Amino acid sequence: MSDQQIHKGLAGVVADTTAISKVNPETNSLLYRGYPVHELAATQPAEAVAYLLWNGELPTADELAALRATERAHRALADDVKTVIDLTPLDAHPMDEVRSAISVLGARDLAGTGSVLDAGGSPADNLDRSIRLFAALPAIVAYGQRRRRGQEPVPARDDLDYAANFLWMTFGEEFDPVVVDAFNRSMILYAEHSFNASTFTARVITSTLSDLYSAVVGAIGALKGPLHGGANEAVLHIFDEIGDADNVVPWLERALADKRKIMGFGHRVYKHGDSRVPTMKAALDTLIVHYDRPDVEALYATLEREFVERKGIYPNLDYPSGPAYNLMGFDTLTFTPLFVAARVVGWTAHIMEQAASNALIRPLSAYSGVDERHIDGFVDEVGTSSIGLRAAEAEG
Ligand code: COA
Repeated sequence: MSDQQIHKGLAGVVADTTAISKVNPETNSLLYRGYPVHELAATQPAEAVAYLLWNGELPTADELAALRATERAHRALADDVKTVIDLTPLDAHPMDEVRSAISVLGARDLAGTGSVLDAGGSPADNLDRSIRLFAALPAIVAYGQRRRRGQEPVPARDDLDYAANFLWMTFGEEFDPVVVDAFNRSMILYAEHSFNASTFTARVITSTLSDLYSAVVGAIGALKGPLHGGANEAVLHIFDEIGDADNVVPWLERALADKRKIMGFGHRVYKHGDSRVPTMKAALDTLIVHYDRPDVEALYATLEREFVERKGIYPNLDYPSGPAYNLMGFDTLTFTPLFVAARVVGWTAHIMEQAASNALIRPLSAYSGVDERHIDGFVDEVGTSSIGLRAAEAEG
């Protein structure tokens, strides 16, 4: 086994092709179906980008209207989903609540399929399921936050686009267009990122011919971890710990001496900066002006400058999105569920791509455990005892 090359963490391994997005770490660029993501974030509603990721092209006006009609028809918080959320302990992490809610949606949709062989679904079934999940997630995430605040759910509004309705269902108020625009951009920037850990998890599950919901539930589990989606939440904990720009240097010196990872910095693929950061930072800047919070800018800029100077490691998307969601009024615990609501588009696009050209994903491992050994006194069906075998080996 020693001559086998181990790709720990699958670093540098190209596992398959994808036509959905292209990450280029050399040029810090990210393309969704060929379009630079910052162009999409500046010009498109989240619904149009979802259409693009699923179908390969931006929608025509009629196609967008049709998608919006379906999305609006599936926005309501279903009774069974609300019941499951209500059954989740209030002090459980909201990602556990979101994972359970999607599981129930899947069980309900797949009820009656009878056999695991029927659950995979046709491409058309899976596109419908993807749109319905995209439509259902804002109500789930919004109600999760409201429940923790002791509030009742807010019914969806048919007259609002996806982003404005998401904010409406969470807070029960209409927001300034500056805030809606920043939120819409964040949803687009989080929608897709090639073979990241959660998307790869979804593809692994799909590769066994399991169903779309199971793949999304698995992806949610992968996204929860602080090295992946949990980082946007962790950035806010760090901001809360530091408190003020003046405290950055002593805090950072201590954190680095303790060998802590500074959340919101670093990336497995981007080593010279994350292509999504400038667009999200520009959205954060508009929020800082809108809410008149220069203190947030001071803390953000100081921590970035001091950390980059010391480690040469740059911010990732979670660094600007954490404080942006905080300014919008989201609770820190809601940040990773927001990531789910956005990334479900990328996951489902990858699930459909994997299903369309499937190969079971099953890598090899190099064994590093103890040498073969035997249970003392074991005698198998043909009467060979392990002791006898070992004695024979010793003689041989
Ligand atoms: N804070 C402090 N040190 C960091 C760091 C961070 N955020 N990110 C990387 N490093 C250091 C590592 O400690 C390691 O140092 P060493 O060689 O002295 O051991 C080196 O940089 C390489 O890091 P490594 O973790 O091996 O890189 P990776 O490609 O496996 O990891 C991440 C990428 C994202 C897991 C890592 O950068 C990280 O943990 N970041 C914080 C979590 C985060 O923001 N995640 C969201 C990603 S979008």
